[in-house]
Amino acid sequence: MILVVGGAGYIGSHLVEELVKTNEVVVLDNLSTGHQRAIDTRAVFVKGDLGNEADLEAVFGSYPIKAVMHFAANSLVGESVVDPLKYYENNVASTLTLLKVMMKYDVKNFIFSSTAATYGIPDVDIISEDSPTVPINPYGQSKLMVENILADFAHAYDLRYVVLRYFNAAGASASGRIGEMHDPETHLIPIILQHLLGQREQISVFGDDYETPDGTCIRDYIHVTDLANAHIAALESLLNGQNKAATYNLGNGLGYSVKEVIDMCEKVTGRKANVVMADRRAGDPARLVASADKVHEALGWKAERDLEKIIASAWAWHQSIE
Ligand code: UFG
Repeated sequence: MILVVGGAGYIGSHLVEELVKTNEVVVLDNLSTGHQRAIDTRAVFVKGDLGNEADLEAVFGSYPIKAVMHFAANSLVGESVVDPLKYYENNVASTLTLLKVMMKYDVKNFIFSSTAATYGIPDVDIISEDSPTVPINPYGQSKLMVENILADFAHAYDLRYVVLRYFNAAGASASGRIGEMHDPETHLIPIILQHLLGQREQISVFGDDYETPDGTCIRDYIHVTDLANAHIAALESLLNGQNKAATYNLGNGLGYSVKEVIDMCEKVTGRKANVVMADRRAGDPARLVASADKVHEALGWKAERDLEKIIASAWAWHQSIE
């Protein structure tokens, strides 16, 4: 059985929907930001907190867990700057509790959701896994701390792990059942689509004076189902002994500026956006684009859905919940 911690959240619930096709799955989630209805009904659901040893003991004592996939974290850069305690407590301390209970129950396979925010402001156009990791906010810092803890646990306790550094997850499941639903929403693509559905008056572009061709920030958008499939390939590589300790970027390898994303949303939806320029948002690097060559070579995985498909799937989802 595979334990998915945070399986009610945006990325976790998409992973669970894919994983239940081939595995028995138990989800542990405290529903602080996730939605119980997002969890595929083929998975067992346990409501509980990964920072609470008793909740973890209840799961590890009841189910034959052979691997853990960990999605339960806070992930807003701006929030982490004003409330670092929340990020170090939920993302680092709680993960340590999870790892402690895993070691106690001799569960040694771990997939960890990390982030492009571990790189800080990169000095290269295309970021590879050996680019320097110099986070510029507590969110990125908290994820890097766990990465370092995992390396020490691998050395000392024979933990086997794969760290997956996501770039910008977006899009919705082809099932039409789940999609991106944050409250409040801060991410670019859902904000644009909510505006195009008439749910927001305008779109603010946070800065058009960056050193990029059109002045707006460039990101590498990856479909959430592509992300889910990468997790499954990573899990297999642990269970079949191919991987012991690995770190991979997950992105498309293509950068799109904020303006280009807005243009693509207009094209996909056939609607016109009301766009206003605004100040830069604190903590935004100008450009974050992945090299995903390493994961392709090691696991044969690569992203299959381009920006147009990502937006089309998100648009179908947003229309369905309108
Ligand atoms: N943006 C706007 N207007 C908006 C919202 C966003 O201009 O209303 C801009 C942002 O300034 C940024 C880009 O759109 O330049 C993308 O912003 P998102 O908030 O969608 O995503 P981020 O790049 O800030 O962050 C996301 C995840 C992080 C992760 C990061 C990795 O939320 O957890 O991707 O690249 F670390």
